[in-house]
Amino acid sequence: MQVLIAYYSWQGHTAKVAQALAGQLGAELVQIEPVAESGMFVKAMKAFLGLKSDIRPCRVDLAGVDHLVIASPVWAHKVPPYVREYLSRVTGGSGKPFSVLVEMGGSGADSAIGIIRRALEAKGMHFVASAFTLEEQVNNGTFGDRITSLADAIRKGGTSQVGGR
Ligand SMILES: Cc1cc2nc3c(=O)[nH]c(=O)nc-3n(C[C@H](O)[C@H](O)[C@H](O)COP(=O)(O)O)c2cc1C
Repeated sequence: MQVLIAYYSWQGHTAKVAQALAGQLGAELVQIEPVAESGMFVKAMKAFLGLKSDIRPCRVDLAGVDHLVIASPVWAHKVPPYVREYLSRVTGGSGKPFSVLVEMGGSGADSAIGIIRRALEAKGMHFVASAFTLEEQVNNGTFGDRITSLADAIRKGGTSQVGGR
């Protein structure tokens, strides 16, 4: 199964989790890169308002991909504007499965997952699994079990939610 993991990470936590998941699934990683990073206030405001921001060209076409994973930090209980832009650019996903991984300080996973889910379902894709990790778990290296459970759910293909505290 060919899995594509598209991730955005400002401070490295989501990158670590996405890389661990890619290692378990033998997945291809695509980094979502902003054309320009903004300051913290603008970041938070754009996320809060549900805006998009320009990203560098990267793989958005899902030809040859069997399963898409979006890995994103939670910003303002929502997702970064760069992730919204990536979601709007995805093509060739109709009928294909996707899963969602969010990384956060402590709250907002459900609403962030919901945003990603709705954007891809609107493109005819179908949701398989979601999970969240906490910044603290990434910092102390205890997120592995959660990623293993998500990888299992993706391999199985049934709908599931990994996590809880
Ligand atoms: C602009 C901004 C808004 C954030 N909003 C939230 C939030 O609503 N809930 C939360 O739990 N963490 C929030 N965080 C914390 C990040 O989700 C957390 O630090 C995460 O590990 C960052 O991932 P990264 O290192 O891949 O960038 C926010 C961080 C930033 C920069």
